[in-house]
Amino acid sequence: MNNKKRHTVTAALPYANGPLHLGHIAGAYLPADIYVRYLRAKGEDVVFVCGSDEHGAAITLRAQKENTTPQAIVDKNHAIIKKAFEDFGIDFSIYHRTSSPIHHKTASDFFKDLNDKGAFIQETTEQFYDEENNQFLADRYIAGTCPKCGFDGAYGDQCEKCGSTLSPNELINPKSTISGNTPILKETTHWFLPMDQHEKWLKEWIETGQLDGKQQHDVSTWRKQVIGQCKSWIDNGLQARSITRDLDWGVQVPVECYDLPAGQAGGKVLYVWFDAPIGYISATKQWAVDNNKNWEDYWKDENTELIHFIGKDNIVFHAIIFPILLKTHGDYILPTNVPANEFLNLEGDKISTSRNWAVWLHEYLEDFPGRQDELRYVLTSIAPETKDSEFTWKDYQSRVNNELVAILGNFVNRVMVLTHKYYEGKLPISSLGSYENPGLEEQVNILLHKIDPIISNINDKIASFKFRDAQTDVIEIARIGNKYLADSEPWKKYKKGEENIEVAKILVFSLDIVAILGEVLKPFLPKTSKNIFRLLNIENANMKSYESFEKGHQINKAELLFQKIEDEAIDIQIKKLKNTSKKPLSNPKAKPMKDEITFDEFTKMDIRIGTILTAEKHPDADKLLKMTVDTGIDTRTIVSGIAEHYQPKDIVGKQVSILINLAPRKIRGIESQGMILMAENNEGELAFVSPEKTIDNGGEVK
Ligand code: MF3
Ligand code: ZN
Repeated sequence: MNNKKRHTVTAALPYANGPLHLGHIAGAYLPADIYVRYLRAKGEDVVFVCGSDEHGAAITLRAQKENTTPQAIVDKNHAIIKKAFEDFGIDFSIYHRTSSPIHHKTASDFFKDLNDKGAFIQETTEQFYDEENNQFLADRYIAGTCPKCGFDGAYGDQCEKCGSTLSPNELINPKSTISGNTPILKETTHWFLPMDQHEKWLKEWIETGQLDGKQQHDVSTWRKQVIGQCKSWIDNGLQARSITRDLDWGVQVPVECYDLPAGQAGGKVLYVWFDAPIGYISATKQWAVDNNKNWEDYWKDENTELIHFIGKDNIVFHAIIFPILLKTHGDYILPTNVPANEFLNLEGDKISTSRNWAVWLHEYLEDFPGRQDELRYVLTSIAPETKDSEFTWKDYQSRVNNELVAILGNFVNRVMVLTHKYYEGKLPISSLGSYENPGLEEQVNILLHKIDPIISNINDKIASFKFRDAQTDVIEIARIGNKYLADSEPWKKYKKGEENIEVAKILVFSLDIVAILGEVLKPFLPKTSKNIFRLLNIENANMKSYESFEKGHQINKAELLFQKIEDEAIDIQIKKLKNTSKKPLSNPKAKPMKDEITFDEFTKMDIRIGTILTAEKHPDADKLLKMTVDTGIDTRTIVSGIAEHYQPKDIVGKQVSILINLAPRKIRGIESQGMILMAENNEGELAFVSPEKTIDNGGEVK
């Protein structure tokens, strides 16, 4: 790993328009937290910043839907997200927010500085405008028919039915989601970042890690998919991108524009993706104020390493656009790495917040109180570092039960219990020191040739962002401990009333391994690490000499580190997921399904094709028609409530579907011998269910 003096670690600012789910955690926050805890354990100088991303049309839209203000939406979600992070043990130096004054000022100044430097261009384009509400419509505010799949409720930026990315002018029959009216096109002026002008240095920086003739980072440490995505953007030709919006929620554009004065309500704001990454800087500023530090040390010193943890949908913003802003500003360092993760899927499907196909972090913490390390463990085991991966509840259960309980927890517990059984928890000898004592060759061998190399592997892997492999190595140490204990069989060697020096050596050596586990678990399972040190009654393990224990040291009572996850708890979660998820509906007004029936029940209905022979108005009822129909097996009279939908003369000769074995009943004095099937639309209009080609009368519908 590089030997930078300082580390600025960021994790993507979550949108404050909803809570966090496991995909977010596995994507950015958990790996960032592991990395930071690792650096802190090494005594490095690190600031770990995050905060809520509180601007953008997604938030104003949500406010409108819920009939409240954007501020109320972000206040509510900021609190939920912040608490979930705390409960889960993501240890930010600061969890800030982009609605704060310090952020508005920082982002505004940043924009002004770049604007003064001539870094932007202004362009006038036509955008959809809602005349009733006098406002330009962000992509999300326009809905219409998807040009790809025909779905009626597609948004200006995306169709949630077929998943296509759209632009508003592609929508068929676009409507404003605010007024329901057809929007007009109106000219508006915006600032654009001419990304094309930066292609040359970006290409070199991405491909070689060189910046202004200096080696800025080692490209071999960057993930392939990150470099791949950036290259493909650059190779396709970068284009100017608008960095302002016509919206009244966000950081106001701080300079005059000829079509609207700066700062006017309903005016122009910075595009949310322009201001959000600057949120990392404002968060650092606030942290520096609170902790008596100099924020510039963390952003403007070449000896500082800047690392952005994100999900793959954020790559272009962190590895292309934000670097352009930082470099154009001039004094800032660029990211040393952008370890983006792929996506986490859930129970065989993509996570989707709109369909509620997600496991929400705050709900997990409510349903499994105190079990944050179990989730950390599983999410790191399946971390989507190189490709998409999948969370399933069954897999969660089996990893917890077969690895945390059966290997790690079991080893620690056996050592604790035996030490209490034979020595009442009071160590009869000290730690085995440098392991030079004669008779300890086996232990020395295990330490030097098995455990030591694993520890250095763990460190190397964390430093190169391979958290999944690193955690596997941690469990390997517990496996070694278990095997050592099983092979050396202290329970067979122990003899009552004797000195049992051999047994003491086995147990103290095992306790040393437990202490090592406490240490290597720190970044991954911080709560478990603390529990281990509490059980051992020591602060930290002394990794250098393995001298963790003095003779006579008293360890605490044994306690299980992990409990088994029972089938029942898992079944509840699977049911909850299935019952609360919703599919996007082609007709949200359609009635819900009736209770399930068996095939036998279905076949009891005798539905036939028949032809209407005569039709006339019911003499005593406006809504009813009296018809005679040829069912192929007889001619019968049917009374039906369709007079408002069909004229008698228009339906004679029509083939229709008839339920013929329905018990006859009298309707306004006339016996109806069966029922003609009708389909009904949202507006209550009725239509016959007719065969799509001519069928012999009496033909069965089945
Ligand atoms: N809110 C964005 C998302 O969840 C991430 C913003 S990252 C930042 O996808 F850099 F812009 F802050
Ligand atoms: Zn579509």
